[in-house]
Amino acid sequence: MVVLPVNSPDGQYNIYIESGLLSELPRQQAEYGMNSRIVIAANEPVAALYGNKLAAAMANAALVTFPEGEAYKTLQTVEQMYAEFVDAGLDRSGMVFALGGGVTGDTAGFAAATYMRGVRLVQIPTTLLSMVDSSVGGKVGVDLPSGKNLAGAFKQPVMVLIDPAVLETLPEREIRCGMAELIKHGLISKPDLLERALKLHAPPNWLNDHSVNPRAYFAGLADLLPDAIQVKIDIVQADPYEQNIRAYLNLGHTFAHAIEQVSGYAWPHGEAVGVGLMAAALLSHRLGLCDEDVVLATRDALRAVALPERIPGFDPEAIYAAMATDKKWRNGRPRFVLLRAIGQPEIVEDVSSQDVLPVLQRLCSK
Ligand SMILES: NC(=O)c1ccc[n+]([C@@H]2O[C@H](COP(=O)([O-])OP(=O)(O)OC[C@H]3O[C@@H](n4cnc5c(N)ncnc54)[C@H](O)[C@@H]3O)[C@@H](O)[C@H]2O)c1
Ligand SMILES: [Zn+2]
Repeated sequence: MVVLPVNSPDGQYNIYIESGLLSELPRQQAEYGMNSRIVIAANEPVAALYGNKLAAAMANAALVTFPEGEAYKTLQTVEQMYAEFVDAGLDRSGMVFALGGGVTGDTAGFAAATYMRGVRLVQIPTTLLSMVDSSVGGKVGVDLPSGKNLAGAFKQPVMVLIDPAVLETLPEREIRCGMAELIKHGLISKPDLLERALKLHAPPNWLNDHSVNPRAYFAGLADLLPDAIQVKIDIVQADPYEQNIRAYLNLGHTFAHAIEQVSGYAWPHGEAVGVGLMAAALLSHRLGLCDEDVVLATRDALRAVALPERIPGFDPEAIYAAMATDKKWRNGRPRFVLLRAIGQPEIVEDVSSQDVLPVLQRLCSK
């Protein structure tokens, strides 16, 4: 078992990582201090895969389910959860388990932060993205019709439980999306993560490609998790409320959010982040901040995990316009996280459209 401690403004908590943890959990319920009422929140597919079984095996647990997808990361879903928490007899001494990907962690986390002014939250991330990114650091929230993540809170979990074995049921595309955030963590602080991701090398459709041994692949992925998560821990410990360096985690994200928006959310977040990382590397190089090796390393890492590195056919002007609405652009001033070198991110303000547009044109060209 790997145990990673996290210091948060609300005290210390641990991230436990072990293959098989989820099936062992009911037997170890007392050791984890889970003796009060528990509500497990999961979307329908994750409930079918893991939630039903967990709820049946844990003492004093009820399951609350909701439909799959970002479209359900809403206040309506939170409201339904409150009603089901009441029906399940959850009181202030109880706990909410957010079992699923980032959508579940954010939505059930927000419900836990606000129900009866807050009940304890256990994050049980089941996607690669939620393991390396969203389950750690305490940000929870939902989307509003006018934009993503516009209503939210800081809610530190009492623990994070990670069972890498659940990644074996995750669709390949979702694994790739998580790899984008993992590559991002490598670019902002751990160059060797990039090299290790390169070695994992998974071509498209690798699950049907006999050149890749799934067992070795998943073992390699599980090995990467502690270091990838540690990058996030170090940053949120230093800056829990995103006053300065936590913004480094947004590397590539101003571009990514614009790509998601312009595609009408047809592009999944992780794939957009892949292109966003490429855009950030190209812009950093164009501004003379870094050498070309940063661009090449970013490209190679994306290629190794079969993530897109370009968006041929998109309109650069439309992407630029969408970027200008990003809430990370304080007071409308263009603000980017860029790279001086791998492992050396920097926040750069007032980047001119004359530098950003050529980068977008290059990525959009057919
Ligand atoms: N709070 C934060 O700090 C933070 C950080 C990054 C992203 N996010 C949020 O996270 C969300 C994206 O998270 P995500 O990529 O995990 O998406 P997701 O929660 O939508 O999960 C992706 C898909 O995988 C399925 N799934 C989950 N676990 C599975 C498993 N083990 N086996 C099979 N299928 C499984 C889900 O049903 C879903 O269809 C976005 O809403 C984003 O805003 C939050
Ligand atoms: Zn992201």
